[in-house]
Amino acid sequence: MNTAEFDADVLVIGAGPAGLTASALLAEHGINAITISKHAGTAHSPRAHITNQRTMEVFRDLGIEERVEELAVPNELMGNNVWATSFAGRELARLMTWGSGVDRKADYDRASPCSMCNIPQHVLEPVILEAARERDAAIRFDTELVEISQDENGVTGLVRRRSTGAEYTIRSRYAIAADGGGGTTAKQLGFEFDGEEGLGCAVNVWLEADLSRYTRHRPGTLYWICQPGNDYWVGSGTFICVKPWTEWVMLYMYDPADGEPDLSEEAVTERAHATIGDRDVAVRIKQVSQWQINHLISRQYREGRVFLAGDAAHRHPPANGLGTNTSVQDSYNLVWKIAAVLRGEAGEDLLDTYHAERHPVGRQVVDRAMKSVQDMRPLSQAFGFAPGQSAEDGWRSLDELQSDTPTGRQRREALAEAVALQNYQFNAHGVELGQHYTSTAIVDDGTSLPPRHEDPELYHQPSTHPGSPIPHAWLQRGNQRASTVDIVGGGRFALIAGIGGAPWIDAASAVADEMSIGLVGHRIGYGCEYDDLFGEWSRLREVGDRGCVLVRPDRHIAWRSHDLVADPVSTLRNVVRQLLSLP
Ligand code: FDA
Repeated sequence: MNTAEFDADVLVIGAGPAGLTASALLAEHGINAITISKHAGTAHSPRAHITNQRTMEVFRDLGIEERVEELAVPNELMGNNVWATSFAGRELARLMTWGSGVDRKADYDRASPCSMCNIPQHVLEPVILEAARERDAAIRFDTELVEISQDENGVTGLVRRRSTGAEYTIRSRYAIAADGGGGTTAKQLGFEFDGEEGLGCAVNVWLEADLSRYTRHRPGTLYWICQPGNDYWVGSGTFICVKPWTEWVMLYMYDPADGEPDLSEEAVTERAHATIGDRDVAVRIKQVSQWQINHLISRQYREGRVFLAGDAAHRHPPANGLGTNTSVQDSYNLVWKIAAVLRGEAGEDLLDTYHAERHPVGRQVVDRAMKSVQDMRPLSQAFGFAPGQSAEDGWRSLDELQSDTPTGRQRREALAEAVALQNYQFNAHGVELGQHYTSTAIVDDGTSLPPRHEDPELYHQPSTHPGSPIPHAWLQRGNQRASTVDIVGGGRFALIAGIGGAPWIDAASAVADEMSIGLVGHRIGYGCEYDDLFGEWSRLREVGDRGCVLVRPDRHIAWRSHDLVADPVSTLRNVVRQLLSLP
């Protein structure tokens, strides 16, 4: 496929979660790609950690789900979200999060074969890197993009080895800019962004402190320390679990109008001790870094031959833990499309569907994360904290919260409401999983989306309506259990039919041969290749026994038919040609 003009078919700029995922998936598709990263290796600090079920499904497709699980803090240790005056101090409120509470666990279990987990970015990235290298992906660290330009035929990147200063160009047909929030590509190619930046300043202090005695009875991912006399945004210091229960990121906000914070080891250790509330706990500072809250999204995810993925396209606060997740999922959407175009299986217009499908997701994610940060204000108000308040007044307010007085009762009601509001950050299953696409790579079946029964941000409602992710159902094959999620993906299209759908399976095989594309057929039903013993798939599939569901390589439903049609081969052929933007 490669000609002398091109060093690679795809240049991936950046080796964070978005770039590494793209790199591994491109290699899986056999695409000649080069990935560059200006840093010497993968992330050297924890940063992102919440890894949701959809992302775990991508890792399952890449064969690294188990490895990630081995290294991650499991879902059962993620649950308790604690608000307290210090680890040793008064606990003010608690919420079971990330689907681990009894009221939400079944929703999460029902929605995916995968579990949410907590894996810090510096532990996760090497696993994705390994998956990419196992597939012979070419990844060049220490290699910075200096200049990028594009023409009708390709993209030219001038790159520099940072350790030697040596410069050379890489010419490719396409480029995926996964170079993060401060990336070069979007700036140089003039991508325009909507939103605002610099909405708040934060400090991350990565530290070691054995807090087992304060956490074992309430294991969780986030401990919000809210100390009287300190009203600044999300509290006095939020502890993010990096390694139970000895390694943490202490995160706190500051207002630059009050001057830059003292980030000396002494000052941050003092803050850690104050928020732990126990000076006997030994604290060792590993790293201190600063970051900003941004609320930005690129107006276009594609300009010509260049695509933005991950933070390069959208930047938002860490609330809801959607940064890495959205980045990995961007690449999962994009790579199969580029691969199909490069292999000549799809028309160039297929690539426009990346923006059409992922931009609305990015919009929802940046807005939700920003709103979740703002939605934490009522907590501080319910604790009775106010700007400029003295510590004594703050403690009096907390005492009032526990008092048998009309104000105390009112404050407790306000607190319960404020805590419930946090479900939109910590149990937002609909936001995490419910991404529905509309584009020319989704073929309408003439039906409308099923009506929602519950809050769409909090609850995921599975559907096979074209554009939806495939619903998860447990199936049986011999004595093996498999999910519907497992029988699709793998870089291919899949057609799923029921007991009366044999002609659809034949059609899938005919269309696959005729168009030379990866398309496999599976039958699900009693006594079929995959037995639907629990009847889960029959309940979820929304098509008849003689109907079918066509699933794209990224596991989103491309199209469905409710029944058999007169000529399944030509129907399927037309659908596939349409969704692949073929004339
Ligand atoms: P990322 O920034 O990770 O990577 C960019 C890559 O581009 C790097 O490899 C870099 O070397 C490379 N690069 C940059 N410029 C280059 C150039 N000129 N040439 C070559 N290479 C270049 N997310 C989440 O999902 N769950 C969570 O819980 C959290 N929590 C969280 C907490 C805190 C405190 C922060 C600050 C952030 C989070 N996030 C998060 C967000 C998360 O860290 C972020 O969204 C992802 O790292 C984005 O991944 P990308 O791959 O897009 O970019």
